[in-house]
Amino acid sequence: MITLTINGLEVQVEEGTTILQAAKKIGIDIPTFCHDPRLVPHGSCRICVVEVEGARNLQASCTTPAAQGMKVTTESDVVVESRKGVLDLILANHPLDCLTCQKAGRCTLQDLCYRYDIKESSFEGERKEYEIDDSNPFYYSDQSKCILCGKCVYVCSQLQGTEAIGFAERGFTTHIATPFDKGLEHSTCVSCGNCVAVCPVGALVPKSKTKFRYWETKPVRTTCSYCGVGCQMDLLVKDNKIVEVLPADGPSNHGLLCVKGRFAYNFVGHPDRLKTPLIRKDGELVEASWDEAYDLIVSKVNEIKGEFGPDAIAGFSSARGLNEENYLMQKLMRGVIGTNNIDHCARL
Ligand code: SF4
Ligand code: SF4
Ligand code: SF4
Ligand code: FES
Repeated sequence: MITLTINGLEVQVEEGTTILQAAKKIGIDIPTFCHDPRLVPHGSCRICVVEVEGARNLQASCTTPAAQGMKVTTESDVVVESRKGVLDLILANHPLDCLTCQKAGRCTLQDLCYRYDIKESSFEGERKEYEIDDSNPFYYSDQSKCILCGKCVYVCSQLQGTEAIGFAERGFTTHIATPFDKGLEHSTCVSCGNCVAVCPVGALVPKSKTKFRYWETKPVRTTCSYCGVGCQMDLLVKDNKIVEVLPADGPSNHGLLCVKGRFAYNFVGHPDRLKTPLIRKDGELVEASWDEAYDLIVSKVNEIKGEFGPDAIAGFSSARGLNEENYLMQKLMRGVIGTNNIDHCARL
């Protein structure tokens, strides 16, 4: 363990801990754009710089390891001046579009400009203008708003393992691109939306059927219902309707989702969705109560078991059930009905 001081507060951390992690441990907030604890640190945005006593330059807190006896200041005049400079440079090449930008309210750039009182850039010059890539069914890419933090690229390669996007060109024309700039539709993108979830600005944005502002929504933590992995997610709910799904940090998904959990939520309020059991009567499926349905199942199962024995019955369970529900299903088949005929839809 090593001991250092941050803003006059002493903190003990394990060797190898970065200044950013040490500050977080004692509740000191250092702003970041390009940092994500799940990624290999790449230190490209410089918004997280801090002053370290005795160091020649400001240090990027997300990549600099804490050291024994280090004295760190996270919001000194020189640090604030440097962060203002970074924001000034970003805004020199960014559309000030917050009034209509879908990301307003969940945008790190907007939040930090507010925090450091940056209204506009002091630099005049050319601004990049890219056509919006609308070719993915679930999200769009507006490279005019990209701040080149690189998180999307590294999440796609290091966490998702798809490598659908990367940096193209250099200097002023650097942008995030698919191979040969052919657009998302012609890339290997699997639409997991994990890049969209980490984009700190409005450059990667989900397509939602409903217009909403983030501050109008209420997050509801839940478990994805699509398969048995148990990914944690936050449903963003406005007026009792899901308007977006965000990945949450659960033990089995660590802030990642697949395309189904992330984007396929409109079934929840779909008018065709079954809300009661259906029983076939005179060739027609008609709505029934759960009691009626269970009574029918019990009488049919008993009838078949009585006539042909328990092995005439099979149980077919679902990947959409939880582990516990699937466990109960096999208990029901083996313990109550008395057959080993139990299988699961994921085996196809
Ligand atoms: S990306 Fe952020 S700063 Fe840029 S226009 Fe949208 S809300 Fe405003
Ligand atoms: S949606 Fe998923 S696969 Fe597609 S670019 Fe983003 S992270 Fe990669
Ligand atoms: S698209 Fe978003 S996540 Fe990707 S580099 Fe640009 S700002 Fe960063
Ligand atoms: S967050 Fe540290 S350099 Fe970007």
